[in-house]
Amino acid sequence: MGPPGAGKGTQAEILSRRLGVPHVSTGDLFRDHVGRRTPLGREAARFLDAGELVPDRVTTDMVRHRLEQPDAARGFLLDGFPRTVRQAHALSAILSARGEALDAVVEFTAPEEVLVRRLLARGRPDDTEDVIRHRQRVHHRETVPVLGHYSGLVRTVEAVGTVEEITARTLSALGLPEGVSTR
Ligand code: AP5
Repeated sequence: MGPPGAGKGTQAEILSRRLGVPHVSTGDLFRDHVGRRTPLGREAARFLDAGELVPDRVTTDMVRHRLEQPDAARGFLLDGFPRTVRQAHALSAILSARGEALDAVVEFTAPEEVLVRRLLARGRPDDTEDVIRHRQRVHHRETVPVLGHYSGLVRTVEAVGTVEEITARTLSALGLPEGVSTR
């Protein structure tokens, strides 16, 4: 978890390879649907373009379906989900039906101006300054309260510095040895 530009996708990609579990990014899943012009993609596009959250039911159904794929049977790394308290409750129901629980929640933090600079340099369609600032506000309003749902599991990592430095901090926060695959 973390605000837009905190490096969730970058770090999740690295960690998922090290852990040998799929990286499940709701942003990537939505962009894939948008690119393929599926009915879900057509519904989601206007929310992504505006920096608004896609409705909870649509998002939760998409995640539930993704987690039913065989590659997620032995674990997964969620990136960008849950992002609302309702999504957190839905995830609890999905996990309890599977007899599973989360191992940890990583929260990345960084000053807003660092995040805005990173995203403007990337230039995705939703990376205009207005939309970035709106995504930040949505994060504070909808997603920060989700952390309270996971109080005992949260590992906070300062997401300023090089990608490698942040990976090292994340592994350390999770109690994982650096450079060693766990599977
Ligand atoms: P999503 O794709 O999740 O976007 P986001 O949360 O706004 O996050 P970003 O991808 O912008 O940032 P990130 O933290 O992943 O950082 P990244 O590694 O990419 O969601 C997009 C949209 O989908 C939402 O607005 C919403 O509409 C919808 N959506 C998604 N999930 C949803 C949900 N659960 N419910 C409802 N709607 C949902 O890095 C950013 C940039 O910085 C990159 O260019 C990267 O190369 C660079 N960078 C990374 N680390 C560093 C570093 N250490 N130093 C310098 N540059 C760095």
